Amino acid sequence: MMRLDRFLSESTELTRSQAKQALKRGEVSVDGEPVRSGALHVDDEQKVLWQGKAIARVGFRYLMMHKPEGVECSLKPTHYPSVLSLIEIEQPERLHPVGRLDVETSGLLLISDDGQWTHRVTTPNRDCLKRYRATLIEPMDEASAERVERRFGQGIALDGEEKPTKPATFQRLDDHDVVIGVTEGRYHQVRRMMTAVGYPLASLHREAIGPLELDPDLEPGECRHLRPEEIAAF
Ligand code: URA
Repeated sequence: MMRLDRFLSESTELTRSQAKQALKRGEVSVDGEPVRSGALHVDDEQKVLWQGKAIARVGFRYLMMHKPEGVECSLKPTHYPSVLSLIEIEQPERLHPVGRLDVETSGLLLISDDGQWTHRVTTPNRDCLKRYRATLIEPMDEASAERVERRFGQGIALDGEEKPTKPATFQRLDDHDVVIGVTEGRYHQVRRMMTAVGYPLASLHREAIGPLELDPDLEPGECRHLRPEEIAAF
């Protein structure tokens, strides 16, 4: 918890007195409500906007990684190296993956040490679409693809879970290649959905999280810092 005026001055180019002026002018909101007093205390989970834009907090790190297969997103990996072992950065122990990918899944992984931002990206109520490119073990014809698309739109019952999945998107590119969009992040969700409709996957790769696409210049295992507008996009 921190006073709002202090939070603003530590997280933006505003000085403490400029932050107070910005508050007085009604330029600041917390969780959608305009706030004019700097004395309000805010925590990591609250969304603070200045002039309508989410604040990327100074001192925090925001990275995009092209996760390769064969590394674990867990902070306490058991069988494979941790994704964090691939990052050459000071104080890597403060970083955490923003959402997870399975060991066998490659593609876009966000990494940060800003808990508030992580919450915004991963919270299920924001319906942030994650887009995956997948390869099927068995070929799929167009008629089957239409059936799968319909079932994904209705929600899939997964083994051992009461609630069906939220509506997801499905597109067949060719016999073996498909694109899937989901807004949730359940355990092995995409693989289990595809197995449930009779088409287990040979490989899975995340191409995008909401407005952020995996940078095509990043080789597997590489990462780069996000640009301010990419951080503010969530
Ligand atoms: N769904 C999966 O099955 N695996 C992932 O890594 C991500 C989504």
